[in-house]
Amino acid sequence: MAFDPSKSWDTYPDIEITLNVNGKNYKVKVKPYERLIDVLRYKLGFTGVKEGCGRGECGACVVLMDGELVPSCLVLAVRANGKKIITVEGLAPEGKLHAVQKAFLDTFAVQCGFCFPGFAIAIKHLLDKNPNPSEEEIKEALSGNLCRCGSYYRLIKAAKLASEYVRQGKIYFDVKR
Ligand code: FES
Ligand code: FES
Repeated sequence: MAFDPSKSWDTYPDIEITLNVNGKNYKVKVKPYERLIDVLRYKLGFTGVKEGCGRGECGACVVLMDGELVPSCLVLAVRANGKKIITVEGLAPEGKLHAVQKAFLDTFAVQCGFCFPGFAIAIKHLLDKNPNPSEEEIKEALSGNLCRCGSYYRLIKAAKLASEYVRQGKIYFDVKR
């Protein structure tokens, strides 16, 4: 459908799409111009997906879409129709922590926490493809993520620890209370 600037945004028809988010199917009606980040956050409640820059520069909003790392602020929701999406909420089963989340805790990597979901997804993406990355490979993989608190040193330490956990087969951890 061609964009007509004389039309009100609300007059564009709804399109029903299906998103598989963290293993569960959701049917949702979206406008053709709606972004994936807004559908995930405001229609489906996956508020772990954060919006920083809104233009593909900070990595706060990244999710896995069919296994690839994408900034959800730059993806139209209709483009995600039928895709498998993983957000930070889907990294581990209920009541468990993923190796990446455990490593963040163990290294005190998180300060304000705003960037953490994006870093966690980016590290998972790296480890899915390369469970034994070098420091250079970690830096390269995280080069699209910004941390406003400047916690980079500890985030890299966390990525190294997470890779150790994964190589030892320790993917999920119980949450200690
Ligand atoms: S909010 Fe999407 S990359 Fe910054
Ligand atoms: S911990 Fe605050 S933005 Fe990274």
